[in-house]
Amino acid sequence: MATAPAALWSSRLAFVLAATGSAVGLGNIWKFPYVAGESGGGAFVLIYLLCVVVIGVPLMMAEILMGRRGRQNPADSFRDLASESGARSWWWLVGFMGIIAGILILSFYSVIAGWAMAYVPVAVSGGFTGADAATISGLFGDLVSDPKRLLFWHSLFIVITIGIVSAGVEAGLEKAVKYLMPALLGILLILFGYSAASGYMDQALTFMFSPDFSKVTPQVVLSAVGMAFFSLSLGMGAIMMYGAYLPDRASIPKLALAVVSADTAVAILAGLAIFPIVFANDLAPGAGPGLVFETLPLAFGQMTGGWVLGTLFFLLLVVAALTSAISLLEPSVSWAVRHTGLNRKAAALLAGGTVWLLGLGTVFSFNIAADFKPLLDRTVFDLLDGLTSNIMLPLGGLLIAIFVARFMSRKVLGEELQLEDGLVFKLWHFLLRYVVRVCIILVFLNATGLLPKALSLIGVEW
Ligand code: PFF
Repeated sequence: MATAPAALWSSRLAFVLAATGSAVGLGNIWKFPYVAGESGGGAFVLIYLLCVVVIGVPLMMAEILMGRRGRQNPADSFRDLASESGARSWWWLVGFMGIIAGILILSFYSVIAGWAMAYVPVAVSGGFTGADAATISGLFGDLVSDPKRLLFWHSLFIVITIGIVSAGVEAGLEKAVKYLMPALLGILLILFGYSAASGYMDQALTFMFSPDFSKVTPQVVLSAVGMAFFSLSLGMGAIMMYGAYLPDRASIPKLALAVVSADTAVAILAGLAIFPIVFANDLAPGAGPGLVFETLPLAFGQMTGGWVLGTLFFLLLVVAALTSAISLLEPSVSWAVRHTGLNRKAAALLAGGTVWLLGLGTVFSFNIAADFKPLLDRTVFDLLDGLTSNIMLPLGGLLIAIFVARFMSRKVLGEELQLEDGLVFKLWHFLLRYVVRVCIILVFLNATGLLPKALSLIGVEW
């Protein structure tokens, strides 16, 4: 086993807060509710929960385990574990791909987080109050079509992220999540409380939990799998990186379960905070990506004290995005410290600067370069989003599952998980070895458009 890195989380709770902070983000509060809304509600939620249990938990355990045994950034952890397991040395490339994926994801994630930041002053100053649908969609349109404003908020978000990461594991990451995560939970509970009192909770509960199985298409199943990946931060080594800072004796299965449960609880709470407001105002739950930036502000504008709720909501989004952003940047910073001889501050500036520069592609893809579609008739933002969420994360997850289940010895795995070779261990190994792999291969084929083609060859229409 590699020796522990200089910095470790000061407690198990710190790890849980940081990993939950990574998992809980725009994925839970922005994406989950609208994807659930578009996919018919209950049936999607049920399948999502199944994916979380069957894929999320085993893979989360595998990533934490690899991180703690390797004790370094994902690329170097992979390299050392490959040599320990007698696997080929090129496995380090899988970890390196994760580091690159983190940089690419953060480059557009910070632009969307910037939208949420930009909405805070709008909400505070009563910008939504009494506004009609056209005015609200005008607000959103004005924001995304203004490169200077987008650039300002994108830059501010990156600067804050660099500031936290450059302060180090304990003084930066741990301190940030120690304050931000309780704030996040507090705001979410206030919003949930408001929605619970609105009288429309029953409708929201029915929408989210009574499955209409006629709405389950293969597409819905696959989008639930993809959503589980993105939401749990799996497949790019962010959780592996956090596992590298985990003290030796902490129980990996228990921690993985805690993080997965917290992430799922937040996604559901976010849905239960948002949908009652949507129903109370006679708005459409299936509004798509605009649900949070166009539908909700409309509702905030109609309610008394809506500006307070609106402000809290967009603050919630910013906080959630920030604790995810630091986990997207940390692997590249840790890698750069090790391989370039730079100190942490300089490495954070270099990695963050690269992200900022790449982010310009996304900033301009909503305005001056909206017609620039270099590939597959997609803008730079769509390309980055598709490449990372649909290809790099599932591919990373697949390779991690193969590496752990096929190459790492059962003895090492049992040792790290502190599990006897009993039922729980066997179930975990089975899920990782077969179920996770099959599910990911299906998602992957679907995302690349190969699955529908392959199925049509045997006469099945997708
Ligand atoms: N899990 C984050 C969210 O739900 O918004 C996004 C994310 C963070 C994805 C970190 C991947 C990652 F490594």
